[in-house]
Amino acid sequence: QIPRITILGSLNTDLVAYVPHHPLPGETLTATSFLTSPGGKGSNQAVACAKLSRPRDLSSPSAHVSMVGAVGSDSNGDLLLSNLATHGVDSSLVTKLPNKKTGIAMIVVEAETGQNRIIISGEANHQVGEEYVTQGGWLDKTDLLIMQLEIPMGTVLKAVEEAKRRGVDVLLNPAPAKILPDGVYDGLRHLIVNETEAAILGGVEEKELDTLEGLERVGKGFVGKGVENFVATLGGGGSGLIEAEKGVKVVDTTGAGDTFVGRYALEAARARKEGGEFDIGGAVGRANKAAAVTVTREGAARSIPWRDEVE
Ligand code: RIB
Ligand code: NA
Repeated sequence: QIPRITILGSLNTDLVAYVPHHPLPGETLTATSFLTSPGGKGSNQAVACAKLSRPRDLSSPSAHVSMVGAVGSDSNGDLLLSNLATHGVDSSLVTKLPNKKTGIAMIVVEAETGQNRIIISGEANHQVGEEYVTQGGWLDKTDLLIMQLEIPMGTVLKAVEEAKRRGVDVLLNPAPAKILPDGVYDGLRHLIVNETEAAILGGVEEKELDTLEGLERVGKGFVGKGVENFVATLGGGGSGLIEAEKGVKVVDTTGAGDTFVGRYALEAARARKEGGEFDIGGAVGRANKAAAVTVTREGAARSIPWRDEVE
């Protein structure tokens, strides 16, 4: 029996412009290329779990992956739904909302560094209310619940509470970063943050995380509040993922953090399901490797590797 992973989160259409440098205030810039493609941290993490759980021919997946969320009644929403299906993600609990638009992310990627700047407009994602947590009884069938912060905070908090009541493991990737109520940490089996998120949630300056002592202090703070496994990806803007894999040509970092979460989640879910020891060091190492592939390709979901591509 394979573990069931559910992602409760966002779906966005990414509008990506590749530029020679980030525009200055008042500057009009010509993009070298432009791409419209499936994104959203929730949807990307679902795709990451699915792609990394099986080879490209979709045979013998090591996990069952489903997505809970909302899109609008527009062609962007249809594309996101078919993108999930193509990658083997169960999308039967993604609601298509009448008279709403699908979430949008405007992304600018700098050619030289592959670093992105992102503005999101939530749209349908803002409509994912607390009722999504209990509808259809999906939580009772889940081994690992993964969430980010691109849907309303009230829904995330409700899901943590309901998961805790049922003994379901929760992995939170608090992106984009927002301060969380102290009580939530106790319901988290896994907390995965980048440097910016660690600083905001931990209430410290980012530079405090530059030293091992500073990092340990912040990490112990989360653990003291009840988090079982705390992972910080360092380097800023996702580049910490890349530093671990020297020699990689960085084209577009978009989706790297989501790939990391997906690969890590597969091992966390398996350990949970089989009741075995969770090898967190091994999971982090393999998550880094998978993310290092993602940064070499344009786009978010489309750049995430299949299992056989990493192997
Ligand atoms: O993590 C990358 C994602 O963040 C993009 O796909 C974009 O949609 C934003 O949600
Ligand atoms: Na990418």
